[in-house]
Amino acid sequence: MLMPVKHWRRHRCDHGAMRFPFARPSPGGPDARLVCAPDPDGPCSQQAVARLVYASRARIEGSVYAGMEAIRASAVRHNPPAGVFTALLHQSGWFLQWKEGPPAAVEKIMDRVLRDPRHQDLQIVHHSNGPRLLPGMWTMAIVQCQDSPAEFARRVRALARARAAGGANQPAAVWRMLSTPQRHPRAALQDDPDAFQRVLLCSASGDGAFALVARLARIHGAEVVQRRFAGPSDLDVGTDYTDIEDGDRVLRLIAMARKGLGLGLTRAFLADYSHLVLLFGDDPARNERLFARVLQACQGLPAVPVLLGAGAGNAADARHFAMAHGRGMVYLPCSTGAENAAGTGEGIARVDPGARWLAVWPALAGMLRVARGANRLPPDHVLPD
Ligand SMILES: Cc1cc2nc3c(=O)[nH]c(=O)nc-3n(C[C@H](O)[C@H](O)[C@H](O)COP(=O)(O)O)c2cc1C
Repeated sequence: MLMPVKHWRRHRCDHGAMRFPFARPSPGGPDARLVCAPDPDGPCSQQAVARLVYASRARIEGSVYAGMEAIRASAVRHNPPAGVFTALLHQSGWFLQWKEGPPAAVEKIMDRVLRDPRHQDLQIVHHSNGPRLLPGMWTMAIVQCQDSPAEFARRVRALARARAAGGANQPAAVWRMLSTPQRHPRAALQDDPDAFQRVLLCSASGDGAFALVARLARIHGAEVVQRRFAGPSDLDVGTDYTDIEDGDRVLRLIAMARKGLGLGLTRAFLADYSHLVLLFGDDPARNERLFARVLQACQGLPAVPVLLGAGAGNAADARHFAMAHGRGMVYLPCSTGAENAAGTGEGIARVDPGARWLAVWPALAGMLRVARGANRLPPDHVLPD
């Protein structure tokens, strides 16, 4: 049963209160381990906050990006002083918004948002009290995919039904189910279709991670979903993902732009990725910058991905290993065999992202297999010339 807006503010929560529906404690789940990381954007504490996720049909005319920028202009004026952090997504004609902050402040902002003619049919898909999960004050995203408004609406209804039946997903899981649903036919055969593995790929220079995701998608005949993210100012970064079959499971490979690692929403999901593949290039300074960004993004998270570094060279690998180890993280060097050949680094330039992937894949596949308790051998993700 959906919760129409007119009933929302008087929704009787589990504690019987007739006020804003934030009193229900959120049970722990796989995403409960996501907590706030220190962020230069603003204050962040472990104090319980109200966490609200809603979906609404967008009614903006003209450019979606311009419409989102206009909303951002209001939000960055009003939200941070009130301690409210926000993520806003536009996808398939829908808005999805995740807000966290002191209950009264969230309620006050929502009073205005509810009356805004730029959207309609607002449905609450999550509300709880708990630790802050969004580390940044503002992130917005636009997703381009084959998802239709009707499909998005179906997912909203399914989530609202599950919530009415007592199901309680964490905000990050709700966000993921609505915005990046797993549509691979293989996922439907899994006990839990949402229990697919997620691996993040980032290249130190150029668009190697994106090219690699596109190439693997082509090989597997899979769709590439493109998303654009922006922070509180002009920052505009892209991220693409594809879902490919890996034996009896589905594996999601996500290419992330380097500066995307600094976005609040990215950092809120970092604990969601089991592994982060670093595709290093021929410029040692850029390689070090990428590695530093990764360490910074992971700082303060209780669960972090395992790092796999491809193509850094022995000396850099040893340094990365020590730096990661010092922070309680795992760094696994994956040599392509070429990066040390030239000694000075010229050898690295000749190694394309495909070769780096082939260097990473055996170790990655082995770890993914262990993580899901499988004992079969991984299929070869062979890249054609
Ligand atoms: C989907 C959506 C999300 C919005 N989110 C926020 C928000 O987080 N904070 C905010 O102040 N305004 C938000 N707004 C805009 C408000 O509805 C309202 O227009 C604005 O707060 C008015 O303030 P202003 O006159 O100072 O711009 C949102 C609007 C829409 C359509």
